[in-house]
Amino acid sequence: MDTKSCLNCSRRKFLGGLASACGALSGMVPSPGCAENPPTPDLNRVLPLKIAAYPALQQEGGSVMLTHDGGTTVLLINRGPGDALFVLDPACRHAGCQVERYDKVSREIFCSCHGSTYAIDGAVTRGPATADLIPYPSRFSGGVLEVELPEFEFGISALSPVRTTGGSPRLALTFPTRNQVSYRIRRSTDLAGPFQPASFALEKDSLLDQTQLAGDGDVRTVYVDAASPRAFHTLELMVFEVG
Ligand code: FES
Repeated sequence: MDTKSCLNCSRRKFLGGLASACGALSGMVPSPGCAENPPTPDLNRVLPLKIAAYPALQQEGGSVMLTHDGGTTVLLINRGPGDALFVLDPACRHAGCQVERYDKVSREIFCSCHGSTYAIDGAVTRGPATADLIPYPSRFSGGVLEVELPEFEFGISALSPVRTTGGSPRLALTFPTRNQVSYRIRRSTDLAGPFQPASFALEKDSLLDQTQLAGDGDVRTVYVDAASPRAFHTLELMVFEVG
């Protein structure tokens, strides 16, 4: 079988909504580490975000709040001058309330609980908080913001060719999932994309009628069609805007 797939090709983001639905799909960013049949799984702990998908981050002073896990983890991302992007834990350092997004008019991040304020980079500017917002390690290059998250695993850990009982070729894609996290599979005939949504089956012989998998904390396997002689598959994690 010539079908190729990418391990750790996460790279994309969905703007949907939690309590306040809002959004549209963003693009996929293929990982430079994609390889055919990599010898060992190497799940990264990096959440990749294609910044072009966020209009607010196209100009200085823009600000968004995102979550990929149902709100357990929230990222406050502020656009500074030039390519500066500040990725912050929005938990106020006074008593833990979630601060608001950066306001480019007042030029501050405000905590409505007791009035603390912070600068665009998270530096505390007015108490009662006495410490800066905690930043997430991140890097921004090529339009992609990569945010390092603790205890975050994202990527296809194994793939193998299989056949249905009827003889149709399929590819089994295995990856760890987390609760409250939703996944999709995308496919392209070119590693450079574009990657289109690919339906999948939850069992080897089931219909290819699934488009989204809700994570449950277990390692899961899905099955995609492998009749095409050349196809790259990527795992997609859905990120939602909050706040
Ligand atoms: S929790 Fe933010 S000022 Fe008190």
